[in-house]
Amino acid sequence: MNVLIIYAHPSQKSFTYQIFSQLKKGILAAGHQLKVSDLYAMNFQSDMSEIEYNREGFANTKLPIQADVQLEQQKVEWANVVCFVYPVWWSDCPAKLKGWFDRVYTVGYAYGYDDKGSPESKMTLKEKGIVLCPAGHPNDFLEEIGIAQSMKKVMLEDRLGKRFSHKEMHILGGTIDLEKFKASHLKKAFEIGKNLGI
Ligand SMILES: Cc1cc2nc3c(=O)[nH]c(=O)nc-3n(C[C@H](O)[C@H](O)[C@H](O)COP(=O)(O)O)c2cc1C
Repeated sequence: MNVLIIYAHPSQKSFTYQIFSQLKKGILAAGHQLKVSDLYAMNFQSDMSEIEYNREGFANTKLPIQADVQLEQQKVEWANVVCFVYPVWWSDCPAKLKGWFDRVYTVGYAYGYDDKGSPESKMTLKEKGIVLCPAGHPNDFLEEIGIAQSMKKVMLEDRLGKRFSHKEMHILGGTIDLEKFKASHLKKAFEIGKNLGI
């Protein structure tokens, strides 16, 4: 399979980086092809420009798509599976990744409508969308306060949406007490990578 990882964390000393590394190891151990968009390392521009806003806000598909966005869309087209790896910050993904969705999910590519108002987009259906996100709070607390459900709703139902046949979101909670959860979270990331084709 062709696997693309969209990775968003600024530090290689982070636990999220360790999760990303284990996921990669699992993917390569299973013999898949891998491409990575390391958004901070690439210095990916996450702010939408006024030109881009004019294109998206008014569905003006005649306006050009920026070169860096086109490159990301080409990677998405190459992939059968897209994995998103990021830390939970303020009950969502880092702004860097939010900006990836803002800019890469352009009208006419990731969503849009034909002349009759029916949904129309060029993005080919992906087999799998996998989300891995370490969180400081434990999972049971995030469930209890409803944040886990809201994060899953936004990520799986809106951002991944109907663009992916199979979708999974794994909140790797409890990193505030890292030693308690570290080994099981790292093992899980490796196994998810290794079993992507199953
Ligand atoms: C700016 C910021 C906001 C955070 N917000 C949350 C949050 O809303 N919920 C949560 O469970 N953890 C939150 N955390 C904790 C991170 O999820 C935690 O640092 C991460 O899971 C693992 O750390 P690392 O990858 O940075 O080493 C936040 C951390 C930072 C730096």
